[in-house]
Amino acid sequence: MRTRSLSVGALLALFVASIGLFAVAQDDKPKFTTKEVMKKAHDGNPKLCAKVATGKASKEEKEQLVELYVALSKNKPAKGDAKSWEEKCNALVAAAKECLTDDKAGGAKLQKAVNCKACHEVHK
Ligand code: HEC
Repeated sequence: MRTRSLSVGALLALFVASIGLFAVAQDDKPKFTTKEVMKKAHDGNPKLCAKVATGKASKEEKEQLVELYVALSKNKPAKGDAKSWEEKCNALVAAAKECLTDDKAGGAKLQKAVNCKACHEVHK
């Protein structure tokens, strides 16, 4: 009886631990690939990033841009150094977040941070 309840307990502990691990892995996985982020944020007419940077985006669109850039920052760059990638992505996330509360200041930072060529030259 004793050994039985022990093994059930051990199994249960294992089960709970694996759920925990699964949840962490899920949470860490970027929602969008870099290509998806480029398509959704940087492509189209008008581009989502430009709408947000010029104060023409709705709250939902701003939130979407933040989400896209957060996913971008969790991705690995196709090329180039991880530190430079982190800096560029963090600047994008920070600027997009600022647009949620302040279009003007955030928009100016976003326009500077969304530098297609500067990032593609090193990371694409
Ligand atoms: C923070 C860095 C960064 C910035 C800023 C950036 N890109 Fe990119 N972009 C990338 C990387 C990295 C790739 C390569 C992705 C891959 O091949 O997986 C890429 C790929 C692309 C692609 C090709 C996608 C595909 O399906 O192959 C397009 C189009 C693109 N970017 C457009 C833009 C435009 C337009 C801008 C500016 C408004 C921009 N990007 C700004 C990093 C960036």
